[in-house]
Amino acid sequence: MTDFSSLLVADRGQSARSIHLVDKASFDDWAKGRPPEDRALIAAHRFDAKSDFAFVILPRGADFEVVSAVKNAAELSPWCLAKLAESLAEGTYKVAVGEPGRAALGWLLGQHRFDAFRSKKDQPERGARVLLTGDAAKIDESVRLAEATALVRDLVNTPAADLGPAELEAAVRDEAKRFGAQVRVVAGEALTKGYPLIAAVGAAATDARAPRLIELEWGKDGDPRIAIVGKGVCFDSGGLDLKPAAGMRLMKKDMGGAAHALALARLIMAEKLPVRLHLLIPAVENAVSDEAYRPGDIIKSRKGLFIEIDNTDAEGRLILADALTKAVEDGAELIMDFATLTGAARIALGPDLPALFVSEDELAGAIESCARGVVDPLWRMPLWEPYDEMLKSDIADAANAASSPMAGCITAAMFLKKFVPDGTPWAHLDTYAWRDAAKSGRPKGGDALGVRAFFAALQQRFGNG
Ligand code: BES
Ligand code: ZN
Ligand code: ZN
Repeated sequence: MTDFSSLLVADRGQSARSIHLVDKASFDDWAKGRPPEDRALIAAHRFDAKSDFAFVILPRGADFEVVSAVKNAAELSPWCLAKLAESLAEGTYKVAVGEPGRAALGWLLGQHRFDAFRSKKDQPERGARVLLTGDAAKIDESVRLAEATALVRDLVNTPAADLGPAELEAAVRDEAKRFGAQVRVVAGEALTKGYPLIAAVGAAATDARAPRLIELEWGKDGDPRIAIVGKGVCFDSGGLDLKPAAGMRLMKKDMGGAAHALALARLIMAEKLPVRLHLLIPAVENAVSDEAYRPGDIIKSRKGLFIEIDNTDAEGRLILADALTKAVEDGAELIMDFATLTGAARIALGPDLPALFVSEDELAGAIESCARGVVDPLWRMPLWEPYDEMLKSDIADAANAASSPMAGCITAAMFLKKFVPDGTPWAHLDTYAWRDAAKSGRPKGGDALGVRAFFAALQQRFGNG
């Protein structure tokens, strides 16, 4: 893991190259005050501060400064420094005016690479690019957010062969060790008895990749109990309702919800939020074998509801259902879950906007405003009761897939809702956990979408200050 804490350090007057951040509105005034050599270079590059992330090097004797275009110089986006952090020479930098603030995140993540599977590491000869900040108190926060994001990216990018349920369990144990949390893992016979849906979905996997429920508990007894649940499908082949090749290609990322949940848990523990945290990760491989669960099977869930399997590819909601039931049994006062649950959420909102479903308007409003505040976008969708009808089964209490493909992310959320009692505040995020195209500071591949927004909402609700 990249050592982010060495890349963002307190400004004690160390010598550093200045980064001038200008936007369309401030550019002309800024340019007027520059020496003629600067103006000549800016003109030579036709730099006008209009195209995002463009930058020009301004020589200063044997050294240099930088001017870079940003959308809004008064309110820096988290990503406006990322391209600089990726592109500039090693050394120490600082923003010329003001503080990097939340843009420190992009500076850090711009220097993170997933190169576990490259024989030649990415440009090892290029040293670190260090950013100074006068906001020493905020360094830890930026470093933690970068670490949490990198954790999600690395877990999601790791191929399924190298990250099965056992490795996901190891990742949870690592976090528990770091923060003195307790871990409990339910597997084998106990899983079959106690968590029939999780056991059914994972039944086709080999013993080495056996299904399990991974639980982590942390915090003081009297504090409010919050449950965080993440879909941990380490590979989703679709099961007997096998996915076609194109639909299966990215399904190593189907544990993205678990990675999001683990990252959020890490942020909560690192910040020492005064909550009693219960992390639940049902971890399975949705595989194909003679032991696989079948379309038409009826399984009695942990809650007691009989579920008819209409489609073995709608596996995420099944494993989440049993995990949600356990969270409720243990007295969760607030439940959050993350899942790469439906293709339909992507059809509706595209890859960059996770679909948010919330049982209460107040909690929804808090998450939405925090998402805007930390620039971690998401979009609320309705828990539309009338569509519950689409989940009817002819002979069981409910089917796991809807009779119509329409509103697929809503019917999936309605299925989960059956396992959360009315009155328990609950937020469900149907996230893509992936970027199809690179953006500054966000390479193509696994990514965290929604973790920072949810964390900000938790800080607002439970934080000390
Ligand atoms: N893991 C997939 C959902 C998914 C697919 C997320 C592509 C992101 C990108 C999930 O398990 C699934 O296959 N869902 C089905 C549900 C259907 C069978 C009711 C879907 O969305 O097609
Ligand atoms: Zn599936
Ligand atoms: Zn899935």
